[in-house]
Amino acid sequence: MPDPPGDKVLVTGALGQIGTDLVQALRERHGSDAVIASDIRESAGNSSVEGGPFVILDVLDTDGISSICQSEGVGTIYHLAALLSAVGERDPDLCRRINVGGTISVLEAAKECNLRVYSPSSIAVFGPDSPKHATQDSPLNPTTVYGETKVTGEALAREYLERFNVDTRGIRYPGLISYKAPAGGGTTDYAVEIFHAALNEGHYQCFVRPDTRLPMLYIDDAINATLSLMDSSEDDLGESRVGYNIPCLSFSAGELVDAISDRVQGFTCDFVPDVRQEYADSWPDSIDGSLAEEEWDWTPKYDLASLVDEMLRGISGR
Ligand code: NAD
Ligand code: SER
Repeated sequence: MPDPPGDKVLVTGALGQIGTDLVQALRERHGSDAVIASDIRESAGNSSVEGGPFVILDVLDTDGISSICQSEGVGTIYHLAALLSAVGERDPDLCRRINVGGTISVLEAAKECNLRVYSPSSIAVFGPDSPKHATQDSPLNPTTVYGETKVTGEALAREYLERFNVDTRGIRYPGLISYKAPAGGGTTDYAVEIFHAALNEGHYQCFVRPDTRLPMLYIDDAINATLSLMDSSEDDLGESRVGYNIPCLSFSAGELVDAISDRVQGFTCDFVPDVRQEYADSWPDSIDGSLAEEEWDWTPKYDLASLVDEMLRGISGR
């Protein structure tokens, strides 16, 4: 294996919900110039990402990824470019092409340049036959195309690890809640949109029923988990390293509304379920993340109350 071209970091899909926070956290750690943000669209208006190098990069362009890694001296890729569940189910072919094709491109570039790869999975890998409290080894039979692409993403990451010795790692993120960038077209977007609506309009029309319970996490915990997994020694990581369940919160849409109503006077919410209800119903209510706790010692800091406080503080600029 050749040495990696350098020790810089490349982030794909950096303008999205997670990339906006992750690029900032990585730049605080490594320095702005050492973290190259990339996306298929222009970065205008994203102040987190504009604080350092940014390139337009389509993840389907394997040669383009390799060439940036060689010329800029990259050693690690955080591969975030994807279509999320709601957008993905509207165009399954495109979802497969970007989520599976993009992951293959990144892994091929990693094989060629000896790069480390972080490629997130999702709780969408589980389907209706999974227990409602999904364990690491619960069956992976999703009914969404998005979920299928995430199962395939884990399999590809495992294949490149085992066959080509590429250092691949990933977390099955739950619904992530953040305020710096809009949510990117997923089923769990209601848990982000609701905060903006509460503060700006005093009202939200929620697209899932109030009893819809899903695994969730505040973004700071998700970023911290990601960096913690990437910091871990390979010796500590077992077979689940390409798609760890992690400990997370579990609350219903109704409980979220109540927590916001306790803090935002006069806030009201009504519930008009659409097709995203089906996707939510096919996913677990909660996740057993005990393996991540055992293997790399990670637990979240935010509970529902502190998450709601942070979201309201962040959006209102307090
Ligand atoms: P997002 O939709 O907010 O951002 C994805 C980014 O990818 C966008 O900025 C988009 O422009 C970019 N992109 C799309 N096609 C591209 C292409 N061909 N080339 C390069 N860039 C392209 O998504 P996110 O919420 O930041 O999610 C990042 C990763 O985390 C995805 O793999 C997603 O499946 C996973 N994930 C997210 C959540 C969540 O709640 N946000 C939960 C579970 C898993
Ligand atoms: N939050 C994501 C979605 O709803 C789950 O991967 O699509």
